[in-house]
Amino acid sequence: MAYPVEVDYAYDDVPSTLFDPTRDTDESRNPTWSHKDRLNRCTVSAALGSGAQGIVVASSGNHGASAAAYAARAGLRRVVLASAGAPPAVQSFLDAYGAVVLPVPEHERWSLMRQIVDRLGYHPVSNLTAAAHTGHAFDPEGYKTVAYEICAELGVPAQSGGRALRVSDAEMAAARAELAAGGLWAEVSSAASLAGLRQLAPPSGEGALVCVSTSSGFKDMDVGTNPLEPLSPPDWATVAGRLRAAGISLA
Ligand SMILES: Cc1ncc(COP(=O)(O)O)c(C=O)c1O
Repeated sequence: MAYPVEVDYAYDDVPSTLFDPTRDTDESRNPTWSHKDRLNRCTVSAALGSGAQGIVVASSGNHGASAAAYAARAGLRRVVLASAGAPPAVQSFLDAYGAVVLPVPEHERWSLMRQIVDRLGYHPVSNLTAAAHTGHAFDPEGYKTVAYEICAELGVPAQSGGRALRVSDAEMAAARAELAAGGLWAEVSSAASLAGLRQLAPPSGEGALVCVSTSSGFKDMDVGTNPLEPLSPPDWATVAGRLRAAGISLA
């Protein structure tokens, strides 16, 4: 075999949708596998700049883990007010970055966060506040790098309109399955962008459409709760039974 091996598609055989002009920015490639790394690089920089000894964040998952990771790297203490119903992997994730994890009922988190800010002088980096979905003032500085990257890759400024859509859980699940069939395993909330696009189908306008897929499927609520079931007995008859059950013909 000659190296480097060149791999190509059998263009006549691939589904026509493979080359549709929809593209996906896969945010699971960030250091903590979500788009939150873009903004926490900025919020933790703000915390350092303010002279705080630590950060505090209320989050059920992605945001808290990302803030904890960047704070660890910056040498700041990190406190995460987590939700009691967070996915099983969240505790391990936060422990890995040395965060102090405080699982509290959601309605208590804002007053407790305020007390940590007031009593310890820690810098708050949540994406929500008690009043609104406003977040930290530096958040957009991080998020806008997505637009810069799209512009750099496509050679045109990223444009966005002002339309909000409501997508259902079923639509997000379908969009997620579509992404997985294309080789991307996204957290179900990450498939909201593609679900919205599919609601508008067929898309109008010219040029590429870019969906931002915000996080990895590893972050989903039920990940880690479905252990592998060993084949018993581990022989061909059992394998054949499983393959048939999966719709694979053995003829
Ligand atoms: C996977 C995922 N997508 C989207 C969001 C929403 O992000 P934001 O609140 O910054 O708009 C979050 C977190 O809140 C998230 O975890």
